[in-house]
Amino acid sequence: MHPVATIWRSRAAAEGSVHAYAVRIQRDLAALDPSQAVVDLAARMVDDEARHVEVCLDVAARFDGQRGARPAPRGGVDLVDDAPAALQPLLRLFGSCIGESIAAVWIDRSAADVRAPWLREVLRAHLADEVHHARIGWAHLASNRVSEDDREELGAWLPRLLDASLTAWRWFPDVWPADGFPEEGLPSHAVTFAAIDEAVDEVVLPGFARYGVAIDGVVR
Ligand SMILES: [Fe+2]
Ligand SMILES: [Fe+2]
Repeated sequence: MHPVATIWRSRAAAEGSVHAYAVRIQRDLAALDPSQAVVDLAARMVDDEARHVEVCLDVAARFDGQRGARPAPRGGVDLVDDAPAALQPLLRLFGSCIGESIAAVWIDRSAADVRAPWLREVLRAHLADEVHHARIGWAHLASNRVSEDDREELGAWLPRLLDASLTAWRWFPDVWPADGFPEEGLPSHAVTFAAIDEAVDEVVLPGFARYGVAIDGVVR
């Protein structure tokens, strides 16, 4: 088995989970009275994440010549299912926003050592998508559709949302060595951890703070 292909297939499974999450966010969106811009961005995310599954399988096939079947989405735990039902759509939206904001920085770093033009293009397109996906939450939070009470609830839940995202992002399948395969778009664990920290410190926490969500309960 080609490890690079195996890892890209594992990423396809992860993209499948994100797609399922995006479908759920889109379905619950009406409860949040979102702007049309947010509705449009969420629809785009559903389409993009379905495509990302295929893109990851295509990349895997470039390395071992086997297209393979669409993998089952990696199972995820719904970390907010014990929150009050009325709050869950908001919490899922921002759980996603945190993950997509980290993804944007990480994919940018993933491209640093990639030389093959076709793979650079894959990562460039993927980065552009992630920036749009992260904007769903930020655009909603910047609007007047989020009440002061909801901003307060969000601040109370932020440590848990962030912790869930960090746990997922810091996890590597066994086949992903510490040094990664940087030329194949699979950065080292250290580069990944640095990208995560940078995203949290420079995008996620300032974003919440700017729009009136308390970040002082966050411990990393
Ligand atoms: Fe994706
Ligand atoms: Fe995404």
